[in-house]
Amino acid sequence: MSVTPPGPLGDPLFGNGRQFADDPFGFLRACADSYGDVVRLDLGPRETYLLTNPADVERVLVADAERYRKPQFGDDAMDTLLGDGLLLSEGETWQRQRTLANPAFHNRRIGALAGVMADHAESHVAEWSDGDVVDLQLELARLTVKIIVTAMFGADIDDEEVKTVQENLEPLGARFEPDPRRYLIPDWVPTRENREFDAAIDTLESVIDGIVERRRGTERDPSVDPAGPDGTGVRGPPGDPDADLPMDLLSVLLRARDRGEQTDENLRDELVTMLLAGHDTTALALTYAFYLLSNHPEARGRVESEAEEAVSTGRLTADAVRGMEYTERVLNESMRLYPPVYTLFREPKLDVKLGGYRIPEGSALMVSQWVIHRSERWYDDPETFDPDRWTSKRRSQRPRFAFFPFGGGPRHCIGKAFSLLEAKIILATICSRFALDYEGPDLSLRGSLTMHPNHPVPMRIRER
Ligand code: HEM
Repeated sequence: MSVTPPGPLGDPLFGNGRQFADDPFGFLRACADSYGDVVRLDLGPRETYLLTNPADVERVLVADAERYRKPQFGDDAMDTLLGDGLLLSEGETWQRQRTLANPAFHNRRIGALAGVMADHAESHVAEWSDGDVVDLQLELARLTVKIIVTAMFGADIDDEEVKTVQENLEPLGARFEPDPRRYLIPDWVPTRENREFDAAIDTLESVIDGIVERRRGTERDPSVDPAGPDGTGVRGPPGDPDADLPMDLLSVLLRARDRGEQTDENLRDELVTMLLAGHDTTALALTYAFYLLSNHPEARGRVESEAEEAVSTGRLTADAVRGMEYTERVLNESMRLYPPVYTLFREPKLDVKLGGYRIPEGSALMVSQWVIHRSERWYDDPETFDPDRWTSKRRSQRPRFAFFPFGGGPRHCIGKAFSLLEAKIILATICSRFALDYEGPDLSLRGSLTMHPNHPVPMRIRER
């Protein structure tokens, strides 16, 4: 067996950087089709390998997870943005942050947040009228920002602040799009892109600081936790002195700061991480689901029936949307075809063996949902939208890591249950009243930290 995995030829200056930047999604899939389980890519100063076999993904994310870490790209942008927040931190810092955050994501607490999600969804769509055309991605991103701030930060955010967050996501996203020239220009060079990126971070941090300021001194006041009394069951046994404390993430982190376990900087990193990771992804998953439903009226009809049944019981609850099984299949199928996080990165802490090849310590591994979710090796007719792939029988015929929109292993998404509940509540709220018809061009995609439509997503709203 050859020692170096095969891979595409690149040009002398940028390696495969240009091919990747021109069409990241087509390029990665072509590599998987041509070169197999492990593909060597030349994407910059460090060796990069694309893994395309679910068995290797499982090894990296789960079985041998302790041998890998999140890579440092020698690129300060990500650190500046997310610092030591949960998504990027490592070792003891990560363990401490995850343990601190866990109660805020406990299943019972998430279930109790359904009402807050439903209220935000209701008041958002109350502004829609028959015949309007909206940019759905923007609408959903605004809605999910409001939900995450109320649910996890125990605070409200006004329309002006929501707008500020949205406007500043654009320059942040642009900074993470593949661009081979970036390796030639350090972050401190005041290019327009770098200046806009720095300004966007300052603005986002000032929104976060405003929220923290509004919440100062209330971190022991149970009434700030929107999970309300239903959420209190997660707080510990009777007699626990902390049993009545609010368990929204911001209250938890503020108390940790009071105990000296968090600095103001940790707190801010965590909140920026949660604000970004906790809204953009769910908004994208829903945008793609509505896009696909618009093109598949029969599936839309079935989602509408489930939605009507769920809302018929009154204010939506976790129980009411639990029965939306077909809608869950639609969500899975949407995230298969359009995974909001289209690739993960890892770095081996020591030399490892994958697919029969030696992969050196310090190289970058790309573990791509986009590539595996659309591979003929794991899915029949992979380009076709087929929610019935997600019946338990058909699902059990595929390897576990043929589908991993939320990652896996110890670093799996902490917000998975939150986002699935939120997505179903938003689908139920919208589909019980409206049908959305897509009126844009063929969907084209842009790869940044997450996978975005490359253009607005115009949807005509039709009252049902
Ligand atoms: C459809 C929605 C979502 C998708 C597709 C998604 C996807 C992911 C993926 C793939 C990872 C693993 C990253 C890695 O292994 O490198 C991750 C981690 C994470 N996600 Fe999500 N996510 C979603 C929603 C959310 C929500 C709603 C929140 C917060 C409320 C959230 C917060 C996080 C955090 C903090 C991590 C890092 C966890 C850790 O490393 O311990 N995500 N997410």
